[in-house]
Amino acid sequence: MADKNEWGSNLSFILAMIGSAVGLGNIWRYPYVLYSNGGGAFYIPYIVAILLMGIPFLILEYGVGYNFKSSFAKAVKRINSKWEYLGWFLPVAVFMIMIYYSAILGWDGIYMILSFFKGWGADPNTYFTATLLQSSESMNGMFHFIPLIAVAMLVGWVIIWFISHRDLEAGLGKVSKILVPALFIIMVIIVGFSLTLPGASIGLAELFHPDWSLLGKFEIWMAAFGQIVFSLSLGMSIAFTYASYTKDDSDLITNTISIALANSLFENFAALGVFSILGYMSLQSGTAVSDLVTQGTGLVFIVYPTVFNVLGQWAYVLGPLFFLTVYLAGLTSILSTIEPLSFSIQNKFALSRKRTMTILIIVGAAVSMIYATAYGSSILGFVDTFINQIAILFGVIMECIIFAWIFKADKLVDFLNSRSKTIKLGKWWIVVVKYILPIFVAIVWIGGMIDVIKVGTNDQLIFTLVSAIILIVATLIFTLLPAKNPEWENADERV
Ligand code: PHE
Repeated sequence: MADKNEWGSNLSFILAMIGSAVGLGNIWRYPYVLYSNGGGAFYIPYIVAILLMGIPFLILEYGVGYNFKSSFAKAVKRINSKWEYLGWFLPVAVFMIMIYYSAILGWDGIYMILSFFKGWGADPNTYFTATLLQSSESMNGMFHFIPLIAVAMLVGWVIIWFISHRDLEAGLGKVSKILVPALFIIMVIIVGFSLTLPGASIGLAELFHPDWSLLGKFEIWMAAFGQIVFSLSLGMSIAFTYASYTKDDSDLITNTISIALANSLFENFAALGVFSILGYMSLQSGTAVSDLVTQGTGLVFIVYPTVFNVLGQWAYVLGPLFFLTVYLAGLTSILSTIEPLSFSIQNKFALSRKRTMTILIIVGAAVSMIYATAYGSSILGFVDTFINQIAILFGVIMECIIFAWIFKADKLVDFLNSRSKTIKLGKWWIVVVKYILPIFVAIVWIGGMIDVIKVGTNDQLIFTLVSAIILIVATLIFTLLPAKNPEWENADERV
């Protein structure tokens, strides 16, 4: 019998990890990033980013996680007890992602139902912003509660609770083995159908039309690196935690390569679907693809419903399938965002998995209600920018320093190589994780901060500050609370 925090098989580990990586970023972010950064030419920085950063960094996070077989906070404390604070910082930041991700999941749940009868009406833009979200530009909107969104979000939290409070393999492991393959199959159906639409080739020609001149531009390289950090959920302590749950004989290098490949396959597939559909829309409406294309909530909740409105009967099949895909992709990602904090708490305070999950989910659900208000979608944007552009990137840099320098990544090489049936690590790997990666991420990080300060409105700065304070204080509390578990000081190492 596997214990409570161990995968039943290598397959559960890989699929759960793919489930975490494949999320909204693959569906609503990547197609736009590819399009707006040189189309076909973007593949060069993209592949470089995967080879230079994605895979080497995942190997590092997995390797150290695997070595410790314990939670992120516990391992960081073990590497150097002065750094315990940083061991809590990332898990708390990732838990903050969970709280706002639940709102997007809730919106998508509502659209899944609406898509059966095109319930968004003739004007999807007005429906989304004014009718459903009742978006308000003013902070007073925080006091205007929207029950429908709250209910949809709570349904998501209940589903999450059902899966997460169980033992790892019985819950997350089993669910990943069903949902992740289902997600890929539905995506193939959607894309297959989209490619047959009249006008699909117009969209694809737009998408892939290579603009080689952009290759010399700094921004498209930044875009590629940023996309890979987000899409592969790098440096978020998730990969670390998942690897610590693996059995003793995992071939981590090969697993890493499979996960990175599956993630890229999925997002490029999604891009085919999105642009075929935009091409169809362009043909129908006479609007240029470049005027239709957008990303994020605008793509999923406005552009897609608009397309379904002109798609006729097929929309009743494609619509529900599409919103289901987004829901499944979001669900398998959100499930991963609770694991690092939950496991760290279990380790320090000697609480059971079940109890920790239940408490965290209740807290998360309660706090998430701030997003079920008329100001919720604005707050969501602010918090998302803060977490992704500032907090997580900071965590990634710290992780590189702690793992590559203080822990000394060199120690892992022989061990990882001895398990690997495919690629072997060489000196290049050490150079990448010690120098190239932290320097690169630091550049992206500084760029992101300048962006927030330069273009941020007053409200954005206020919410950035509030989020930062919550993150810092919560992290401090977990660090300072005395441990209840006598084992807290000793983390076993496998290597
Ligand atoms: N990697 C996910 C995506 O592509 C996003 C994510 C971020 C998932 C943080 C988990 C944690 O959408």
